[in-house]
Amino acid sequence: MTTGVRWLAIVTAALVLIQALLIGQALYVNQMATLGTHGWLGNVTFAVAVILTVVAFLAFRRGEASAAVLGMSALTTLLLIAQLGLGYAGRKGGIPAALHIPNGVLLTGLLFALVAITFWPAMKSPSLRS
Ligand code: HEM
Repeated sequence: MTTGVRWLAIVTAALVLIQALLIGQALYVNQMATLGTHGWLGNVTFAVAVILTVVAFLAFRRGEASAAVLGMSALTTLLLIAQLGLGYAGRKGGIPAALHIPNGVLLTGLLFALVAITFWPAMKSPSLRS
């Protein structure tokens, strides 16, 4: 179960990084050609984060994941809901578009921290630590 959480966190982090790459291309290289891909990949990232949170919850219940891992997975999913909303609402610019970028950076940091703690022995709940 722990490996499942770890790999789902790695895939979610990679998807957000790919989205940042796609939007950089869209803004400065290909005249927004990859904006649509950035947007729909965002929906895929959200779906993977939901699976990550479910697997983290099951791992937590089995004592194989700490409350921190579960909490960070759930927070990732919540921030991704906001990110999708800000992305679509930000099509005309303004506050939503302005908040979309720092939220994207926050998501990236959170996911990298989540990936990092899945490698810690402390990942497991106290009763299972050898
Ligand atoms: C660091 C990461 C990210 C950055 C820097 C970023 C930046 C942007 C920018 C600049 C736009 C274009 C706004 C415009 O129309 O001018 C955009 C659109 C959008 N972004 Fe992101 N984004 C990031 C991550 C994400 C993530 C993780 C999601 C979803 C989970 C997402 C979903 C969207 C959506 C849905 C749109 C609208 C696409 C459309 O108009 O069809 N973005 N993003």
